[in-house]
This record gives sequence, structure tokens and C-alpha cells, in this order.
Amino acid sequence: MIPLDDVDKWYPLVNERAQRFLSEQEREQYRSLPQNEVEHQLKLLLECPIAHFTVVNEVYFRARWAEVFEALQLGDDLTLLEVASGDADMVPQVMARTHPNSTYITANMNKSLTASLLQKTLGLPLHMKIIEEDAAYLEKHLPSGSVDIIVFQHAVNDIIQAILCEQAGIDTIHTDWMETLPAMIKLLQQEVASGTLEVHARQPFIALIHTLLKSLRTDGVIAMNHYMFQLDLDWGYPADLFENIIPLARRWLNGIQGCEEIFIPGFDRQWWIFLQKR
Ligand SMILES: C[S@@+](CC[C@H](N)C(=O)[O-])C[C@H]1O[C@@H](n2cnc3c(N)ncnc32)[C@H](O)[C@@H]1O
Repeated sequence: MIPLDDVDKWYPLVNERAQRFLSEQEREQYRSLPQNEVEHQLKLLLECPIAHFTVVNEVYFRARWAEVFEALQLGDDLTLLEVASGDADMVPQVMARTHPNSTYITANMNKSLTASLLQKTLGLPLHMKIIEEDAAYLEKHLPSGSVDIIVFQHAVNDIIQAILCEQAGIDTIHTDWMETLPAMIKLLQQEVASGTLEVHARQPFIALIHTLLKSLRTDGVIAMNHYMFQLDLDWGYPADLFENIIPLARRWLNGIQGCEEIFIPGFDRQWWIFLQKR
């Protein structure tokens, strides 16, 4: 696997970042880990598909998103839109620490994952707005130019999967996402085998980005990241596709009107893409 990041760069930073980005309860959990275990978990996270969900993972991803916010010099009164958050709370967790009292919006279709996200983020000092609908219809919910940054935190693959499921008549809204995952993987295998993924998913994906660009302010940024899960690979997710989701998105979005790719030093193009609205 192409490493997410450089373990030699991150290991010296991880204790300080844990102090900054974890809750008291999480810090306690973190402190119970011997330092060689922290280093081991960090190495696994950065160099292998993710097989364990650990507090070290949380530190790393929260710290990375904080670096994105800092690099983009986002002001204090931030309005952030996350697309397809599921119940992953890295972004609201970091935002609560770097930009307290600002506005976090998520557009997320799956009902039970939205409920779980609300539970995980209870009490965070953020104005939370939940849009339980396909992000393709966001125009109905958000005034144009009202958002400072749009994030796809490990969401490009999920969006593509949901597009394919909709076309195949598979419900991803009222069902358990993990129970549906084998069917999603089967669809992806078929698309890869027949070489039709681009024909079926590119256009809806681009249309979604065009819609999102309307709610983004001029100079605002769409930030996407990705990493792999071992479980998906074990269940037959096409490995080359899974590893290259960001390069695929870059190829599909090449030449899209209204934004252009920017680069942030230290963020690998394999795992991150940043598009700035012009
Ligand atoms: C596995 S979960 C989320 C993953 C999460 N981003 C992460 O960090 O792993 C997938 C979620 O994406 C949502 N989703 C997929 N396509 C979407 C779309 N077009 N609009 C809104 N939500 C979408 C699903 O409803 C589901 O809640």
C-alpha cells in the first residue's frame, strides 16, 4: 500500500496532538498505551489498510483535518459542510477544538448512521445542522455561497457506492450500511469487470460537485481524503479501485468548470485532493 504518511514524521508529534485533540476520557485511554504500542499502532495506520479502530487513529485524523483548516487559514466563524459523514465524527470533533461555536452541517442519507453521529457529537460546542437527504439536493437547504469549506472525509467511495445502489434499486437510506456493504462490493466488482464504472457513476458524481459548488463561497475549498479498510478488501472490494479512489476522482473532475485543484504541502495526492472555487 502507498503509505498515508511518514511514520518518522508523525511519531514525534503524536503525544502532543493527543493532548490537543482528544477528550479527557480518550486521553486516559491513550495514556494507558505504552509508547512502543503507540508507535506500532501509528505504523500500522499509516502503512497498512485499517484493521483496528484505535484512539491513535483518532489522534492522527483529527490532527490532519486541523492542519487542513490551518493551511487554508479558515476564519473563526466557520461554516463547514461534510458530505456523507455516516457516523464518523473526526471532523466535528476537531472543529469543536479548533473552531468552537462555529457551524457544522452534514448531508447524510443513512438514517441510523445519522442517529449515531448525533449521539457521538452530543455536547460539542458547535451549531449542528443535519440534512438527512442526498447531497445532490443541497440547493434546497443551503443559500448559495454560504459555506466556507466542504469536506469528504473518507466519503468518495461511499458516494460512488450509493450512486450504484440507487441505479440497482438497493436501499442505502433505511438499511444497515454494513449489511448492505457486500451487495455494494458485488456491484463494484461487476463495474470493474465490465469497465463501466465511469459510464455509470461519473456523471452523477460530477453533478453532485456542481451542486455543492453553488453553496460554497468563492475561494472556498472542497477537501477530500481517503484510506482503506482491511475488512472491505477481505470482502472483495476491488483493491486497485479502493487504493486509487482519489486519483479516480481527480481524473473524473479534471477540467470541471468553477474550481481548480490546489495543493497543500505535506498532503499526499494519492490520499487527498483539494479543489478551490473560482
Ligand atoms: C460508511 S458511511 C460514512 C463514511 C464516513 N465518511 C467515514 O469517514 O468513513 C457512508 C454514508 O454516506 C452516506 N452517503 C452516500 N452518498 C451520499 C449522498 N450523495 N448524500 C448524502 N449522504 C450520502 C450514506 O447515507 C452513509 O451514511
